[in-house]
Amino acid sequence: MIDRNNPLWFKNVVIYEAHVKAFFDSNKDGIGDFAGLTEKLDYLQDLGITALWLLPFYPSPLKDDGYDIARYRGINPDFGTMRDFRRFVRKCHDRGIRLITELVINHTSDQHRWFQRAREAKPGTSARNFYVWSDSDKKFADARIIFTDTEKSNWTWDPVAKAYYWHRFYSHQPDLNFDNPRLLQEVISVMRFWLDMGVDGLRLDAIPYLVEREGTSCENLTETHDAIRKIRAEIDARYPDRMLLAEANQWPEDVASYFGNGDECHMCYHFPLMPRIYMAIAQEDRYPITDIMRQTPEIPANCQWAIFLRNHDELTLEMVTGRERDYLWSFYATDPRMRLNLGIRRRLAPLLGNDRRKIELLNSLLFSMPGTPIIYYGDEIGMGDNVYLGDRNGVRTPMQWSADRNGGFSASDPERLYLPPIMDTIYGFEAVNVEAQARSPSSLLNWMKRIIAVCRDHRALGLGTLRFLYPGNRKVLAYLREHEKDIVLCVANLARAAQAVELDLSRFKGRVPVELLGRSAFPPIGDLPYLLTLPSYGFYWFILPEEAEAPHWHETVPEPLPEFVTLVMRDSWRSLTTGREAQELSTNVLPAFIGQQRWFAAKDTRIARAKLAILGEGNTSARVSADTFLVKASGSNLATLSAAGVTECRFDRLLPLLGEKSLADAAIDEALFASRVDAKAKKPSVEAIFHAYLLTLPGVNFVGHTHPITVNQLLCSKHARKFAQRRLFPDEIVCCGVESVFVPYTDPGLKLGQAMRRATMAYIRRLSRAPRVILLENHGFIALGATPESVLAATLMGAKAAEIFAGAAALGGQPRFLTPAQVVRIAGRPDEHYRQKALGL
Ligand code: NOJ
Ligand code: CA
Repeated sequence: MIDRNNPLWFKNVVIYEAHVKAFFDSNKDGIGDFAGLTEKLDYLQDLGITALWLLPFYPSPLKDDGYDIARYRGINPDFGTMRDFRRFVRKCHDRGIRLITELVINHTSDQHRWFQRAREAKPGTSARNFYVWSDSDKKFADARIIFTDTEKSNWTWDPVAKAYYWHRFYSHQPDLNFDNPRLLQEVISVMRFWLDMGVDGLRLDAIPYLVEREGTSCENLTETHDAIRKIRAEIDARYPDRMLLAEANQWPEDVASYFGNGDECHMCYHFPLMPRIYMAIAQEDRYPITDIMRQTPEIPANCQWAIFLRNHDELTLEMVTGRERDYLWSFYATDPRMRLNLGIRRRLAPLLGNDRRKIELLNSLLFSMPGTPIIYYGDEIGMGDNVYLGDRNGVRTPMQWSADRNGGFSASDPERLYLPPIMDTIYGFEAVNVEAQARSPSSLLNWMKRIIAVCRDHRALGLGTLRFLYPGNRKVLAYLREHEKDIVLCVANLARAAQAVELDLSRFKGRVPVELLGRSAFPPIGDLPYLLTLPSYGFYWFILPEEAEAPHWHETVPEPLPEFVTLVMRDSWRSLTTGREAQELSTNVLPAFIGQQRWFAAKDTRIARAKLAILGEGNTSARVSADTFLVKASGSNLATLSAAGVTECRFDRLLPLLGEKSLADAAIDEALFASRVDAKAKKPSVEAIFHAYLLTLPGVNFVGHTHPITVNQLLCSKHARKFAQRRLFPDEIVCCGVESVFVPYTDPGLKLGQAMRRATMAYIRRLSRAPRVILLENHGFIALGATPESVLAATLMGAKAAEIFAGAAALGGQPRFLTPAQVVRIAGRPDEHYRQKALGL
């Protein structure tokens, strides 16, 4: 049963695309029908699909395989009756399968009653204007021709109407005129007819071409979007759990415009991704995929992409550059017969040289890229194509059920079949069919069932965010899909040769990756980059659960037993800064410790010495050189740790350290607006955190910022003023003339301090009343305070900090903070448990 209270069902289904005529023939006339399709619903349910998309099944002369509709509210008699259809819908829903059908509204067949009426009607009448007419075939000259192999113009002369009519596709498919409001009413009424019949989703065929305007490409026009919004409004008002799927073969930003603001189509095919998947494995390089996904805009929350590898049309190469098209043609369509319009008319298996590894790899991408996957009928068993059949018929041949006559599709005489089945030795129905594959546990069909089942179990694959990892080996595509607690790591080898890859999974340290298809646990993620090897065209999907047991055979390699040094701390950790203790710490303990830290990037650099220097207790001279780490050594002191290494650490490692006691979250928040922070990312910069830290120093109220803004700007800023009012002086801000106190930064150190102090005092003397607030800027750091001393101390400290940060930034790194507790842990007596473990006792 389907749940009509779940309007977002389309985000989490697996769609199967099929043609009624091609699936199963129940009455031996050589043409598949609704009764036959209904019989095969058990097969589809067993395969695991949860939505079925049917190609057009309406009365039609079938010159464009049904996309040339002659009557909207009927069933092509070859496929059955309206009763058969109703029964079919019921049976689908009984099995929890949603039904998606076609709403072809850009054009009709020239046999449609509307067109016959229009050509007879007087020019200017509404009946005539159901279509787009012109006296000349020169209008809208900027619109491209889509079926380049068959059509020379988008206009065709109609001798009855004595005018040209407009058509974006075949000349027997006149385009409907969306400038006529009556037409839109009719379209909506057709839509309601099928929705009332229980249809769950409608594919809007050829949707970018609804409206045409002179001087434009006649694609993606505002007026087209207006029409779609009206259609959607009707859905929202009366059928809130139904879905619209846009067929817009356009560049990413243009496709995405069909989502509107969540008020146009619920789904759009990701046309640009599809050819780039083929490109990536042809070139053995992840770039085409990562690049197009980076170009893919965010979409509204109530929308979803539809992802596909193949469909009933040619593999379209319209959305690639000319050079890419030539490359793909020469790689995948060596025989010119395989080419059609701007594409390749072949099925998945033959495109991939019938290479099972490649077929699985591409399916793994289909099921793990953001969006809802669509399988084209027959591709689940690796059906082939027939390039000798015209148009796109080569990929629309009968489904291959068994090795029996007509591939088990029909009991009719073979001559009667709507198209001959595939009969060659590799892909023919004797070699490739459902019956045989169902019996073979290792068949593609059974593999597809498994991957579909896994995909249905993991919402992260349908709904999750996408984040690429960029390992050094570009032949490997690696990405994370995350939805709430469900995290799936996907790794794919795009190359024909085996590959190794090292992945930075430090965020998941300690977790045990569990491979999804076989459920085997892999060794836990440790300190080193995670090493994986992949066979030719291999792929893995891992979940990264918070709790999973490491494989039983996994042995934790004991870290080599270090030469333990005992440091005696008579006077807390400060004893470590002088004498023998300091010496041992800087030459033996700290270098060994730093080298093992994940945040220490220069792994192969040998650290000779590391030094602790306390900043803030009269000592303001600690300098950052090319090899300095900054250590937050206590709640009210700063210390720097110098080491012969390179300073680089990961920001996300820094936060938890700073999150300790002395640094309240509120202080970080406040620093957010007082500093050069990407407010959108909601991530405080290191400087911001540092400033926040200074805010917690007793007696000092400190507002820090870095160079790009001046004091004046700071004071003008709404945030800063609010901050100052709330935190410092609730009723009043008195600010002594900033400009006149400001001493330009020339010489760091005491001289500057003296100069600033003198200037501040002079200024205060000149004031008629004592200021409530003194504000100083030094080296871009600003302090607010009640006494010149406190303000000066803070600005000087700020200036020092600026130097430290600038020094670290010049190295391309960020300072590293440690807490006193950590320093003690590093230097303290070795833990007995650890010693025993390390000794393997
Ligand atoms: C898009 C359909 O996918 C294709 O098969 C058809 O030929 C065109 N629309 C024109 O109707
Ligand atoms: Ca039939």
